[in-house]
Amino acid sequence: MTKAIDVDFSKMLMRPCIVISTVSENGVSNAAPFSFNSPATTKPPMYGFCCEVEHDTWRNIRANGEFVVNLVGASFGDLMEPLSRGLPYEQSEILECGLTEVASKKVKPPRIGEAYGWMECRMTSYEELSPRAVWIFGEVLVSEIREDALDEVVNVEKVKPLNHISGETFVVEMKRVKYGR
Ligand SMILES: Cc1cc2nc3c(=O)[nH]c(=O)nc-3n(C[C@H](O)[C@H](O)[C@H](O)COP(=O)(O)O)c2cc1C
Repeated sequence: MTKAIDVDFSKMLMRPCIVISTVSENGVSNAAPFSFNSPATTKPPMYGFCCEVEHDTWRNIRANGEFVVNLVGASFGDLMEPLSRGLPYEQSEILECGLTEVASKKVKPPRIGEAYGWMECRMTSYEELSPRAVWIFGEVLVSEIREDALDEVVNVEKVKPLNHISGETFVVEMKRVKYGR
């Protein structure tokens, strides 16, 4: 029998790395990477993620209920560290990182122009997981993908979605396969 090794579960799970953009009451944008996240249901379309309560992201969402989930690929790899720096409140990580703000269609927070896909969301509820963290549920009001990133489904060979395992370890090479039913 192969020996079993006790491991922090997050180190054996690959999770999509998303960048959430929000906006402050004064209209200043904010962005941060998150990897504890998941679609919740499709009817209605809902998305959720785990956010520490000290984060500016939660401060902004608690204030106005809106956020954009930006889907990012390997080209964002070197931006993970600068995007996750705790900049002073109301200093935009989007602009600091040389990224582009693009107006959203149904929510105030801008999307990030360099993302390959995005979901405009409005918080429907949140669950306090601990004194430190909340799980935020949002209804997806708009979900769009860049035309060149779609090939029936997301073209993962082209956009190389950024997936997070732990710390500075990510996965970027993926391949689409079809299995019969
Ligand atoms: C790859 C990666 C994944 C992360 N995932 C999460 C997460 O799932 N939840 C969380 O609260 N913070 C996560 N963080 C940390 C936040 O991005 C970081 O603390 C950031 O400064 C929060 O920004 P804000 O204060 O502007 O909201 C992650 C950071 C990185 C680099």
